[in-house]
Amino acid sequence: MAFNKVVVAGGGVLGTQIGLMCAYTGHDVTFWLRSEGSIGRTQPKIERYSALMIEDLEKAKALIGNPMGAFVYPRGMIKDWNGVTVEQIDELIAQAKKRFAENIHLEIDMAKAVEDADIVIESMSEDPDAKIGVYTKMKDLLPEKTILCTNSSTMLPSTFAEYTGRPEKYCALHFANTIWKNNTAEIMGHPGTDADVYNQVVAFAAEINMVPLKLHKEQPGYILNSMLVPFLSAAQGLWANEVSDPETIDLTWQLATSAPAGPFKILDIVGLETAYNINQMKPDAAVEGTTTYKIGKLLKEKIDKGETGVNAGKGFYDYTK
Ligand SMILES: NC(=O)c1ccc[n+]([C@@H]2O[C@H](COP(=O)([O-])OP(=O)(O)OC[C@H]3O[C@@H](n4cnc5c(N)ncnc54)[C@H](O)[C@@H]3O)[C@@H](O)[C@H]2O)c1
Repeated sequence: MAFNKVVVAGGGVLGTQIGLMCAYTGHDVTFWLRSEGSIGRTQPKIERYSALMIEDLEKAKALIGNPMGAFVYPRGMIKDWNGVTVEQIDELIAQAKKRFAENIHLEIDMAKAVEDADIVIESMSEDPDAKIGVYTKMKDLLPEKTILCTNSSTMLPSTFAEYTGRPEKYCALHFANTIWKNNTAEIMGHPGTDADVYNQVVAFAAEINMVPLKLHKEQPGYILNSMLVPFLSAAQGLWANEVSDPETIDLTWQLATSAPAGPFKILDIVGLETAYNINQMKPDAAVEGTTTYKIGKLLKEKIDKGETGVNAGKGFYDYTK
């Protein structure tokens, strides 16, 4: 492995998953967290997500021989589904338990955390000031060799490059939620990212069982959200303008494209709060009568009823049955 020590800055939903994925693939992982309180919040997430990852490996055993298995196995955890055996999965489970126990460290002293780091992945809240604050603090502590990446979903690396003290060794490495199953890694440099560093990040993504998806230039929303956000907005527009209902819209999409899920099922997975926040960022969100306004109103009604998606048990669909 070209990369040994990985540091994850931020122990939230994505940071935890990234750290676990790196430990699973044999890397030494240190979470840099800002306080003792953060340790108290991150530890249960590590336990929760590591249990989910092991659970998905256990479930994968029952999928062997099932033609659907190839579509739903945890792709980040089993590199080659073809011909995999129960014994091999048992070995992966035993190895995962050992690595989760031995390879993960939590540290609040930033200097100690980044000592000898090969790569630092910043996965802190989507707050530019917080990110700038941490980059500024980190820049004099990082070893010369360390590559720095951001997992930011909505901000561009060029916004932060100048604060890192190493713009040529800085780029975005963007994961998707539940990375052990949805193993995409979008890699996006800014104009000052060194080409060799970019390629090393591509290699690192493959090393942690992600499929590297290369962007040749900066793009807000990367590849996925550049397509997904307008697609989901179009579907919500059909619903808000009473052209059709969520079930029919989903059915249309699925029948016509053989997709496993339609836009409203996807919205339930993403979570309606996120969908609402994205909608409200549009310039016409407060302009009565516009489609954006109607979408916001309808989403808000569902959120107020607690119908926020799969995690809540109900969104556009009922998951309690
Ligand atoms: N949630 C997703 O589906 C998703 C998917 C891809 C990328 N991302 C990106 O990942 C990043 C983290 O998102 P998340 O969903 O894990 O958020 P989260 O709210 O679950 O976690 C954010 C973490 O950042 C820490 N943090 C905030 N301010 C800090 C500071 N000043 N110093 C140190 N730590 C600080 C918090 O304590 C928390 O642990 C964001 O940039 C987001 O855009 C999220």
